[in-house]
This record gives sequence, structure tokens and C-alpha cells, in this order.
Amino acid sequence: MLRMPRQLCRLNPFDGDCIPKPVRLFHPGSGRPTVPFPTPWNFSEPIRILETYFWGADEDQGPGRHNRYLDFPGFAPVLVTRDPGIIRAITTNTGDKQGQFDRDTLPSTGIARATGKDTLLFGNGPIWRRQRKLAASPFGKTSLFQPEMFHEFEDTFRQTILARLEALRNHLAQSGESSIRIELEPEIKTVMLEMLVNNFFGAELTYDELRNRHVPALERVIDHIVRDTVINRLGIPLQWLPSYSERVSQSKKDYAAFEELTDVSLAARHEQKGLWKQFKSDAPDKALRSNVKVFLAGALEATTSYATWALSHLARNQKAQEQVYDEVKDVEEYTPEELDHANYFNYCLNETLRLTPSLYFLPRRASADTWIETSDGRRLKIPFGTHVLLDVWHANRHEDHWGVDVTGFPADEFAPDRWINLAAQGRGSKDTLHFGFGHGPRVCPGKHLGQLEVGLVVGAIVKKFKFRAVHAENKVRAGVSTKPADGTLVDLELR
Ligand code: HEM
Repeated sequence: MLRMPRQLCRLNPFDGDCIPKPVRLFHPGSGRPTVPFPTPWNFSEPIRILETYFWGADEDQGPGRHNRYLDFPGFAPVLVTRDPGIIRAITTNTGDKQGQFDRDTLPSTGIARATGKDTLLFGNGPIWRRQRKLAASPFGKTSLFQPEMFHEFEDTFRQTILARLEALRNHLAQSGESSIRIELEPEIKTVMLEMLVNNFFGAELTYDELRNRHVPALERVIDHIVRDTVINRLGIPLQWLPSYSERVSQSKKDYAAFEELTDVSLAARHEQKGLWKQFKSDAPDKALRSNVKVFLAGALEATTSYATWALSHLARNQKAQEQVYDEVKDVEEYTPEELDHANYFNYCLNETLRLTPSLYFLPRRASADTWIETSDGRRLKIPFGTHVLLDVWHANRHEDHWGVDVTGFPADEFAPDRWINLAAQGRGSKDTLHFGFGHGPRVCPGKHLGQLEVGLVVGAIVKKFKFRAVHAENKVRAGVSTKPADGTLVDLELR
């Protein structure tokens, strides 16, 4: 309410030397892709909503050309930034201390209804701090990459992948054809879920149960989460809805399958299987349930996104694919040392996350009026309550930050060699942040596990097969995460 007079006078609520410019709620005739907020009509194209904020912004040469805001009377302002300096300053200044940014829970209300609110992903303040400490031991680099622990994981992960690829290989050999046309996404998703549920959480579900029941159910749960966030403004829980339509009754079955998956993952805790050996807490299962659900759904989305993007880029870039093959063809075990030596493979993976980040925006909320400062000395005051969308997707594709002048290659191109140029310029990881795993105190705790899984899956596929994309263009589909729109459709042949 206190904002209303200022909002009605259309005064800019920000201060500093890179102040964002306003965008209009409606702007007929401007040619903008859509309106700058989610509606039941545009929510399935979230990247276009973000694009709307920067419509025409490239003509503006001022210091705030990468920052835009929406300020509608009666609502808190929305700031969208594609400025890596600002993204870095805000992610660094996120946490549970006075005046730090929170994670904005508005874009994930659907997730919270599906998993519970007391999770590492959704929680803020002391809840988040507690959950973060709990996650530190099983996910931390030191425990996961302890030689003994690492070998156990690497071995079970690798056997899982090899068994699936062998089946594919046999199928191809028996068909008598030299190549098959296949959507890789469903294959990758099943392997990722298998690694999570069976290898990581220590459950024992069969491949068929995972592929035929749990993967489709989880896909629909995730779709429902996205729809529920935008459409279910009243926040009515699914179980309160009568099963009058096929969609509601299917959703209830899918959620029941999700509960079962959580049950089997938690049951393995009492036998100390999988990661549970590393988990030092006497918290009751009930207290861990929401987080296990977040890990199952969130990690499946993110790892599938990352691996399918990497494969879809390599499928359109035969030269890069061959270079990766040269590096991995003799690798038997994916030890951290072997992976560290596979320089070009690492550039390809890094370039994948830069160009096509799995999480395309990071949501934050200003818990107080806050001044932030970028490493090049620019300052911005963000008022209390502002919803902040850190638009990583567009930041990583802008010529100003990643283009020819800076990296030697156009920003919107998949060019692993740009990392060679950056290394030659002596630019370290700190000044080439692409935020693929986030940054600062809320950086992804599953980063090391995720990198291991993605490295193994992509490396093993390149080692066994040659693959070529069916469509030249690599379009995006976005929901909770981004994925290649064609389901990673490739022509696959044996090496
Ligand atoms: C390999 C693919 C993955 C990618 C690209 C990825 C990406 C990210 C990103 C960008 C964030 C930061 C979100 C923000 O700042 O708002 C994040 C946070 C998170 N990730 Fe991941 N992630 C991956 C794998 C995983 C895995 C395997 C797990 C767990 C098993 C996981 C669990 C989480 C959790 C719980 C958070 C929230 C952390 C917090 O708020 O403190 N992620 N992830």
C-alpha cells in the first residue's frame, strides 16, 4: 500500500547507476512476443515472457540496458536482469542474514504443493539453513569424491549405463540396419532415474517399472506442477479436487506413483544402502520426505536437461563429437583424474550449460531495501519485496557478455573452442560465470553428483555410437527446466 502513490505517479523505485527501465504491462502494436507475466495462454513459453522484457532494449546504450522492471500499482515490482555482474552480486548476496535476498517462492508454488514447503529448494531463513547443513555430507565433493566412495558410485553408475547402452547396441545390431532414428530423451531420463533411485537412494526397482510407470508419471507430475503454479492461484491441493475429469484422476494416480517412489527411496535408509551410509542425521523419515521428493523430481529434470542438451549440441557438431570421442575412447573408469584430463569434453559440457542452461532463470526476492555492488563498481538499490528474475538464459546469449569481441565466437552459437580462447586470455572461472549451477550460498548442492552422472552418460554414448541430429535447428522447450524441443531426435549408428 505504501508503494501505491509512487506507483501511480510512475516513479522508478530503483536507485543507483544502472537503474532498470520500465516495461509496459500492455503494449499493443509493439511487436513484443507476449505480455510480461504468465497467463494461462503463454505460461508454456516462459522464455518468450522473459524475452518480452528486453524487447527493443538493444537500442538503448545506457548502463541499465540489461535491466528492466514491471511496476503495477498494488503489486511488488518485478526486476528482470540479464546483466552477469548484477546476477553475480545478487546470487552472492542471497542467504539467511539480515538484508540478504531470499529465493522467491512465487514461481515454485506448484513445486511446494507437490513436495511440501520445508525443502532445501523452497525454504528460506532458518529452514533453508538447516536443510543445507543436512545436505552437505551426502552431496559434498569431499564425501562423493573420496576414492572409496567415488569408485563405488562410479562403478554402479557406469554398470547401469553400460547395461542400457548394450541393450540399445544389440537392438541396432539385430535390426540389420546401419542406423536407427531414436529420441534419446526417454532413454536418458530412465537411466537418470535409475541412477538416482537405485544407485543413489539404494532402492531396487526394475528397469521396466522405472521406464514404463515412474518416468511417465513423474513427467506428468512435473507438467502438472508448472500448470498448477500459474493456474491454481487459489492454491487448492490436488487431493481436494473431485476426480470428475480424466486429467484430475490421472494426476492423482501420478502423484500416488510419486509417493511410492519416495517410499522406496526412504525405505532403503534403514538398510543403509546407497547414499544413506553418508547421511548422518537421526531426523525421522517424515522430516526428510519433502526433500527426497525435491531431489527425485528436481535432479531428474536437471540431469536429463543437461545430458540431452549436451548430446543435441554434439549431434549438430560432428567435429566436436569426434574430438570428444578421441578423449574418451580409451577411458574405462571415469575417475576425477581421467575427467580432468578430458579437456575438450569438459569445454563441451561447460559450453552446454552456458548456451542452454537447465534452469533458465533464478528467482530471488529482496527481503529489505538492498544496495548491491557489481565487481566493476556499479551500484543498484533494489526496494523491499521486489521479485527478481535473474535471466541466465538471455545473459548467457548476449553478444555484450559472451560474443565475438569477448570470446571470439558469436554468443548464440555452440562453440566449445571459446573456452580455449578464454583460457588463453587467462580468464579464470570467476570472471567467466555462466551460472549453470547457480552461484553463492544457494549454489546447487547436487553439482558434483550431477556432473558425474552427465559425464558418464554423455561419455558412454559418444564412446559407443556416432549420432547426427535429424533437424538442423535446435529449438528449446521450457517448463521447470529447459530441454531440446525435438526430444533429442538423432540417427544413431554403432562405432
Ligand atoms: C546436473 C544437473 C544440475 C543442474 C544443471 C542444476 C542446477 C541448479 C541450479 C542452477 C541451482 C541454483 C538455483 C538458484 O540459485 O535459485 C540448483 C539448486 C539446487 N539443486 Fe541442482 N542442478 C543439477 C543437479 C542436481 C542434483 C543431482 C540434485 C540433487 C540430487 C540437485 C539439487 C538441488 C537443490 C536441492 C537446489 C537448491 C539449493 C538451495 O537452494 O540451497 N541438483 N541446481
